[in-house]
Amino acid sequence: MTKKKILLTRRWPGSVEKRLSADYDATLNTDDVPMTVEEIGAALNEYDAVCPTVSDKLPTSIFTGDHRARILGNFGVGFNHIDIAAATGSGMTVTNTPGVLTDCTADIALTLMLMLARRAGEGEREVRAGKWAGWRPTHMMGTRLGGKVLGIIGMGRIGIATARRAQAALGMNVVYFNRSAVANDRLGGLSATRLNSIEEVLIASDVVSLHLPGGGANTHMMNAERLALIGARGMLINTARGDVVDQIALIAALKDGKLGGAGLDVFEGEPDVPAELIAMENTVLLPHLGSATIETREDMGNMVADNLDAFFAGKPVPNLVS
Ligand code: DGY
Repeated sequence: MTKKKILLTRRWPGSVEKRLSADYDATLNTDDVPMTVEEIGAALNEYDAVCPTVSDKLPTSIFTGDHRARILGNFGVGFNHIDIAAATGSGMTVTNTPGVLTDCTADIALTLMLMLARRAGEGEREVRAGKWAGWRPTHMMGTRLGGKVLGIIGMGRIGIATARRAQAALGMNVVYFNRSAVANDRLGGLSATRLNSIEEVLIASDVVSLHLPGGGANTHMMNAERLALIGARGMLINTARGDVVDQIALIAALKDGKLGGAGLDVFEGEPDVPAELIAMENTVLLPHLGSATIETREDMGNMVADNLDAFFAGKPVPNLVS
């Protein structure tokens, strides 16, 4: 039987590329250069499956309906880079990789929180620049996280995992906002109070961590007014999607002292990061590392492979994006 033709738009972990190359007629992006919208559109006519990532753009214009590809096996849980309605409307199945990156992303949220509160990035830069003048009682004092309030906006898998770590490891108190109530068994022993609105969480929290999907109604959900509610001593952590925060308003809030600091793993217009954010000492900036461990990236790739295998075998596809 002829093998199905599949395209991976970026470099994937070697073990997964090997698995997919054995089972499919797979085209790998060995140079790892991002593909343009036009190239991905053309690929839909050439391949049976296209496997994109968050760094690709798949807008309405590329989904014509008469293309060859019938499945998009997205490498990642978030899919706001794909016009899902247009894709499914043109007869495509879209899959993603939920669950396997929960712990790693929560680890990065905690990393940002700790680095920001304890001024770790600033301290590292000082040592590397040879500017450390030695121990002294008032040198680079940060903020103790123990006993402080962590506010989670979006209490899904990653929100819960972040809250559990912050409570168990740092002794933080947790409040959260989630549109629907979260069943106690999903909280897994976490003691957390659900507040009635995003605003209430922002006002009550010392640190706010965002765990919402990007795009749609969540675009610029954190606007100037809401950022100001976190307050001059408050910190914002974003490991979700850059567009959830109005980046211009964020820069203004940090500059004007309306917000204490920001720990960001995601940005609007990635990979561009505004010079203002880079110049500030009260920011910690990471290059979208949430899921970046060998184990997780292999799990994500194998999940895509499982989704493709099920689809082409005519079996129920495990991780359908609805
Ligand atoms: C995702 O999976 O959506 C992450 O942001 C990329 O790993």
